[in-house]
Amino acid sequence: MHLARFQAEPAIFAAPGRVNLIGEHTDYAEGFVMPAAIDFATLSGISPRTDGKIVLYSENYGQERAFEAAALPAMGSRHWTDYPLGVVAILAGEGHAIPGFSLSLWGDVPLGSGLSSSAAVEVATALAVLSLIGVSYPGPVLARLCQRAENEFVGANCGIMDQFISANGKQNHALLLDCRDLSFKLAPIPANVALVIANTMVRHSVAGGDYPTRRAESEAACAVIASHRPGVPFLRDATLEDLEKWGHEMTPKSLLRARHVISENLRTVAAAEVLAKGDLAELGRLMAEAHASYSRDFEGSCVEADAMVALAQDLPGLIGARLTGGGFGGCTINLVEQSQAAAFVEALGGRYAAQTGIVPQIHICHASGGAHRVK
Ligand code: GLA
Repeated sequence: MHLARFQAEPAIFAAPGRVNLIGEHTDYAEGFVMPAAIDFATLSGISPRTDGKIVLYSENYGQERAFEAAALPAMGSRHWTDYPLGVVAILAGEGHAIPGFSLSLWGDVPLGSGLSSSAAVEVATALAVLSLIGVSYPGPVLARLCQRAENEFVGANCGIMDQFISANGKQNHALLLDCRDLSFKLAPIPANVALVIANTMVRHSVAGGDYPTRRAESEAACAVIASHRPGVPFLRDATLEDLEKWGHEMTPKSLLRARHVISENLRTVAAAEVLAKGDLAELGRLMAEAHASYSRDFEGSCVEADAMVALAQDLPGLIGARLTGGGFGGCTINLVEQSQAAAFVEALGGRYAAQTGIVPQIHICHASGGAHRVK
């Protein structure tokens, strides 16, 4: 498609979406997350131009937009081009001279479903543009630049998780990522465990109001703790005892949000340990607890996601289920015994449709590698 549209052979890159096994709304608190890259991805094709223009084409939207490389906008305009353009703007801000180019994007990460389609676009764009200008960054640096594109240009207040796993995923593994220093441990996913991702079909958005509100509420709780214990710049450093001592100084909502974040951090570290030991029953228990905390304390779920999790509970082969990603819709992650996965998909889909009247999309995914050049 790129060749036909732009009459130039592109260099092609791929960046995956992700599913988070556990550790929700902990990344911007400098805590732990345990995501895996999945086999849905964004592909980017790039070729140079001589007219000083940056021409962005999305196959998914069937739309093309052109910008002057020498006069990039400073902020997004609530359009799909914000994501690729934001990356270009951040790279320009880093002092890289940006030449004209044509960039084509195509992806199969379901949009607005909490599987990080935006991070996949950002990382795929960054790899393409960096290769065009002959620069290479280590994966964690690449992730940080893409996160900045989303924070500073798109205007969405996300953490580092999605960009990090898209850039640094490892096949057959989740990563236990420490969002404080970006160090990580590989968490192997056993071959007999399938990642079943069930889309509630309720749209999720990080740019919407709920994500920043929850973030602000949890950060307000942290500020209360820090006023007593200055060594707590982030909820990562706080304990449940801190909440017992000073929770009464917080709004009831802030207290609940903080209780989720602090307990979720503990669960995430524990989940990586039990996964390493092969204790899948305990992993499932932690996922159930994580979902309850996300839904009840963080109020980050919705009726449909709660239903999707509840309807999975007694199906044969289920290890654990919870809502994944930024919340308020999107997908649940179900760890399921591989041999039962196909039947699980059938049964869950049927039950969810019967209860909600919505036909869900349910995918059996695999933990895949991070972003890379395709050709
Ligand atoms: C979205 C954000 C991430 C993270 C999750 C919640 O995916 O982009 O940074 O905060 O929500 O865990």
